[in-house]
Amino acid sequence: MRVTRAVVVMLIAIIVAIGDAHAAASGQSIHFDQANKVFRLDAAKVTYAFGVDDKGRLQSLYWGPRLDASDRLPPAVTPPKADGIDGDINRVRQEYSGWGGGLYYEPGVKITFPDGNRDLELHYQSYSIKGDTLYVALKDIERAIVVTLEYEMDAGTGIVRRSATISNQTATPVVIEQANAATWFLPRSRDYTLRFLSGRWAGENDINERPVQPGKTVLESRRGTTGMQNEPWFAVRRNDADETHGQVWFGALAWSGSWQIAIEQDQVEQVRISGGFNPFDFGYKLAPGASLSTPSFYAGVATDGLGEASRLMHRLELTKILPQAPAPRVRPVLYNSWEATGFKVDEPGQIALAEKAASIGVERFVMDDGWFGARNSDKAGLGDWVVNQQKFPHGLKPLIDRVHALGMDFGLWVEPEMVNPDSDLYRAHPDWVLYMNGRPRTEGRNQLVLNLARADVRAYVYNALDKLLSENDIAFLKWDYNRSWSEPGWPAVAPDEQKNVYVDFIRNYYGILQELRKKHPNVEIESCSSGGGRIDLGVMHLTDEVWTSDNTDAFDRLRIQDGFTQAWTPAVMMAWVTDSPTWVNSRTLSLEYRFLSSMQGSLGIGADLNKWQPQDFATARRLVAEYKAIRKTVQQGSLYRLVSPQNGSEQSATESVSPDRAHAVLFAFLHSSTENYPYPTVHLQGLDANAKYRIHAIAGTFDPRTPLVASGAYWMHAGIDLLMRGDFQAAAVVFDKE
Ligand code: DGJ
Repeated sequence: MRVTRAVVVMLIAIIVAIGDAHAAASGQSIHFDQANKVFRLDAAKVTYAFGVDDKGRLQSLYWGPRLDASDRLPPAVTPPKADGIDGDINRVRQEYSGWGGGLYYEPGVKITFPDGNRDLELHYQSYSIKGDTLYVALKDIERAIVVTLEYEMDAGTGIVRRSATISNQTATPVVIEQANAATWFLPRSRDYTLRFLSGRWAGENDINERPVQPGKTVLESRRGTTGMQNEPWFAVRRNDADETHGQVWFGALAWSGSWQIAIEQDQVEQVRISGGFNPFDFGYKLAPGASLSTPSFYAGVATDGLGEASRLMHRLELTKILPQAPAPRVRPVLYNSWEATGFKVDEPGQIALAEKAASIGVERFVMDDGWFGARNSDKAGLGDWVVNQQKFPHGLKPLIDRVHALGMDFGLWVEPEMVNPDSDLYRAHPDWVLYMNGRPRTEGRNQLVLNLARADVRAYVYNALDKLLSENDIAFLKWDYNRSWSEPGWPAVAPDEQKNVYVDFIRNYYGILQELRKKHPNVEIESCSSGGGRIDLGVMHLTDEVWTSDNTDAFDRLRIQDGFTQAWTPAVMMAWVTDSPTWVNSRTLSLEYRFLSSMQGSLGIGADLNKWQPQDFATARRLVAEYKAIRKTVQQGSLYRLVSPQNGSEQSATESVSPDRAHAVLFAFLHSSTENYPYPTVHLQGLDANAKYRIHAIAGTFDPRTPLVASGAYWMHAGIDLLMRGDFQAAAVVFDKE
């Protein structure tokens, strides 16, 4: 029979008709092509597809720019035999694999059964669609282990959320030794560069790049917490992609415990990116009938470079992740007393600072460490959440009342998961910490980690915070966490259940945050961990902002903030203006420079206001008012990193554009003038080319010949010349649509 074009079209129509299509009101669509056994998700500018192969394995088929609705993805098939040495399983692009059948790459899940079997091969069983989520069930070829994969595509960004739930439907307990949320496959190519973030205390968010080559790069935390040594984020770009052009695949994990993201290129040059619980020291004992859910792993595709990849992440965070999503309130300007007072807090001292803070337009006054128990240094008191009577003889009420009378709300520092051995709590409950019988209890910052996986510890922490929030009019908690784990034992449970602490601790941490938010819906929370040690999409779902770094040197911050915004939105990036010279580098910076550096995120003041002169208050009052006028654009707009501060650059510049493109703000910095070179012309991005924008400078000056009103096209192509000379100069210019 001659197959005519009309017959082909008819056949396609029949196949589409027997497929299951689901187009959600949200704008994403999920489609199952039953004939080819292909699942396809579409949203925004992205298509994601996978299929069931002839053996029943789930295979990745496509992840990239959106395909035409009429495009049919061919079915998944077992790859042709290559050599007899490596089992075929290693060539299959498995969406989610059990460790079994001779697999040499990162598996989705690895399990040890009580009879010693450790082989697991997952085959497709069924699927269902509930709301915007596609559920795909896989089952081992022999044992009653069922893994349910979740897929959800964000309509606004095309970012896919994946996670897996492993159910033990056998009659015996099993131990899960590895559990990833997802494996993502990139298109077959040798042409990739990995970008990732690394750091240390006071030096977060270094940007690193390395070619993707045969072998594996592991980004991870083994610390029980997110950590700042790697951020749980990756980006892989085509080698020719840069900040503004080219294809980028990127993603981030929603988990605040030990995590791992592995980027592997196998021997046939397939690139796999897997992420989930860190398998190091992992061993989750799962009772019969019980299940374990992995964290969610979010990942997306950008076609306009690393800048667009970041903007997509920011949009996801603002509209889907943050507790107030899709419309977070703007962050208030806050004052924090830490750098001014250290542990020496008391009622008159805090009131004096609050009065000065209010005079410059601060909206939230936060008292940091030192207000409770015997907390006069970091050596004692942690765990005893009772107000220190010497420092606050009448409790916190007089301070809070004064703060309110000054027109601000009140915030308080806590570090609920920690205990100093020199505390009433530890003296009463030495077994409440993470420890191993008979072994040393290694201290960090003179403190031990409470075992939040224990029900009694969870109750203590929740009750202490609930009491604090119920008895005091507190609008904000700065929730700190100042050390990583050591000796992560849990002697109160059976030896083979102790490693469950890696999961149960974090689930209880999230549970406490959830319950507190529910009971005290107006309280906002900041995630802090010796600076930026606990920033991930998991904690971001339950907190309103994060502390970026203990390094508040405004020049160092340009680089730290540039790294931060690769993954995280400026809306949550807390940035304080502190004293000069800074404790970090003894570097002297003008107050205006310090303000402009901090105004690129969520503005705070952390300076000792008792040392300020009248002109400092005047500068601060003016810039706080300017910030309030632009903050919605800065916090919730689209960020364009125009000039990078990395690699010893002498300049840097960022631009934020409001979602409706009616407003934009340019921040520009000069490290040091050399050889009389002028500041390079700055070309704006993301404006409406046909609209007219009027400009005014918040700080610094531009060339007097610059038109005050010009088109978006003019600002993007002709640009703006800023007049900056000398060392550590800064300028900020606002663009408003006429
Ligand atoms: C570490 C934080 O990062 C600081 O901002 C401060 O809150 C101290 N802890 C207090 O101990």
